Formats: sequence, structure tokens, C-alpha cells
Amino acid sequence: MLDDPFALGHEEVVLRQDPDSGYRAIVALHSTALGPAVGGTRVWRYPSPAHALRDALRLSRGMTYKNAVAGLALGGGKAVVLLPDGPVDRTALFRAHGRAVHAFNGRFITAEDVGTTPADLEVAARETPFVAGIDGKGGDPSPWTARGVFVGILACARYAWGTDDLTGRSIAIQGVGSVGAALARALAPTGARLFLSDLDTARVRALADELPATVVAPEDILAAEADILAPCAMGAVLDDDSIPRVRAAIVAGAANNQLAEPRHADALRKRGIVHAPDYVINAGGVISGSVSLLNETPARMAQRVDAIADTLTDLLARARHEGTTPTHAADAMAERRLAEARQNAR
Ligand code: NAI
Repeated sequence: MLDDPFALGHEEVVLRQDPDSGYRAIVALHSTALGPAVGGTRVWRYPSPAHALRDALRLSRGMTYKNAVAGLALGGGKAVVLLPDGPVDRTALFRAHGRAVHAFNGRFITAEDVGTTPADLEVAARETPFVAGIDGKGGDPSPWTARGVFVGILACARYAWGTDDLTGRSIAIQGVGSVGAALARALAPTGARLFLSDLDTARVRALADELPATVVAPEDILAAEADILAPCAMGAVLDDDSIPRVRAAIVAGAANNQLAEPRHADALRKRGIVHAPDYVINAGGVISGSVSLLNETPARMAQRVDAIADTLTDLLARARHEGTTPTHAADAMAERRLAEARQNAR
């Protein structure tokens, strides 16, 4: 990708640095065709600036597609802050970041991502109003992400089995952090049997006792004997090694970038596994974060989250009709909406 950083079609990519605080960041605006570019700020110790650039380019494009398919009047962007070696003054870092965000004058609006907390964003918000996902501006997105995944799982069940009655079905959840735990709590009353896994053994044990559910070792969860697999931990878990071992008929979970490579969507399809594209089913978080940006009521926002089920149903049907994967159908839907927006702007 770095051979040609223009290849993904970015509108604008900015490098910012502030020697006083050690702040170095890349802000990538992939598209503002549908509205201001919205996306989180990732803070990470990258092996090199090239790695950070690659992440910023890839993630910002992902946000464009996620927002477009969610039907939001928002574009896609992402900021990555390169964590310096040695001690870091986080307040100075996030004040510098707030100024960087403010320089876009509303064309870029950011929120939390890997490595950032609401407290960090509160600091950035001292410099700019263009911050979401903090108190009074959407709040914690995880419960909404979980709700979207829950209704998405029901939609996949209706598609695969003609019913969303989960009584007697079994569901394996990889990762019971903010989203996975909320999802497990939503699924428990459906009568499904739950298999839970987490690297944090105390966390998963406590949740299993509460629900109840069965704890599965992290190395066994992807191949668990379950009807539905919900990856809710890290990305790239569906690869050449895991896909042949998956026993579930449906793979639907919150984790971003579940496919190790795009071709793995095809590998799932060839095995007859229904896969909910991650950026479609996990859009509940960005939808909740956008409530204040779009001046919407909480009720309208909840409707939008629940509409993830309709979008998925539509995409699964399109994919079957066109003999393609749901991921491909989702990409095509996003590209259609972007092309229409660009056309209308002319
Ligand atoms: P989290 O950090 O609260 O939870 C992740 C959990 O996964 C942790 O408990 C961790 O111990 C566990 N885990 C990591 N590797 C594991 C493995 N190999 N096996 C079993 N468990 C493992 O993260 P959160 O917020 O729940 O997010 C989960 C996923 O959903 C991430 O991929 C995230 O990018 C994605 N996502 C989250 C959104 C949100 O609103 N929080 C929105 C959209 C996507």
C-alpha cells in the first residue's frame, strides 16, 4: 500500500508534530462525500511511521464504508498518534491532538479507539468541540455495539434457519470485554447455550457463573461445537488455519477486521458459513456516537442500531442472489452510496 498511498482514494492525509510534547500523528480523511469524516483516534507504539501511515489509511477507509452502509450522513477518517518511546505526558499529548483535530475545522470528528480512553478525549476536547464518544456526546458506545450485534445475530439466524428462536442453539463468544459481555447478557435470556472464552480467566469465570455459561479455553473457542460463533476480541482471527476448523453455521461478532485477508470471505462462503461483515454488524457504536453530530433523538438512534438487522438481511440476500460474499455485497453498497453522494454534489 505504501508504494502508492493514493491507491485507496483518500481526500487528504496530514502529518502533524509538536516537538514540545513529542506528539506525532497522522490524520487521514478518506472521504467527506457523505458528511464530515468521523473516526476514532488510535494511540499505539508503531514499529515505524510507515506502519502508522498504513494503519491510518486502512482504518480511515474502513470508517467511510462503515458509515456509508450504516446510512449515516458522515464520512470516514481516522487519526493515529505515534506513542513516543519513554515517558509520555498524556495531557500535553492530547491537548496537541485536540489542536490537530481543530485544524480541520469540523471536517474531522474523532472519538475513542484502541489506546484511548474517554479521559484522553476529554483533554482533547479542551482544544476543540470536534470530539464525540465522551459524556454528553454519545457516551460509551459498547452497549450499542452489543445491541447491534445481537439484532444482527437474530437476522443471520432468520436467514440461515428461517427462525430467530435461539432456544437450544449454542453460541460461542470469543472475548467477553465491553462488547462480548454485554452480548452474552443479551443472549442469555433467549434460551441459547453459551460458550465463553477470554484471555482474562477471572473475567470469563465471573460472567459464566453469573449467566450461567460454559468456559472454553482461548485456543478452542473458534472451533467450538456451536451453531453461532461471535468473534468479539481481536481482528484477523479468520484465516487459513481457523476457517477449516470453524463448526458454526453462522459467524457474527463485533471484532473489527475479522478476516485475515479479503479472500477469507470466500473461504467462509465455500464452507457454507454465513458471515456477517464486521463493519456492518458492529456499527452500533459509531451510530450511538453520532447522535449529537446528527442532532438525532436517542429513539431515532436506537432505531438506526436496530436497522442493522435489516441491512444485514438485505446484504445476505444480495450476496446469495449475486453469488458473492456478504462482505463484497457490503463494499458494493458503500461504493454505490458514495458514488451517488459525489454525483449529487456535482
Ligand atoms: P475489550 O478490550 O473491552 O474486550 C476484548 C476482550 O477480548 C478482552 O477481555 C480480552 O481479554 C479478550 N481477548 C483478547 N484476545 C483474546 C483471545 N485470543 N481469546 C479470547 N479472548 C481474547 O474490547 P471491546 O470494546 O469489547 O471490543 C471488542 C472488539 O469489538 C474489538 O475488536 C473492537 O475493535 C470491536 N469493536 C468494538 C466497539 C465498541 O463499541 N467497543 C465498536 C466496534 C468494534
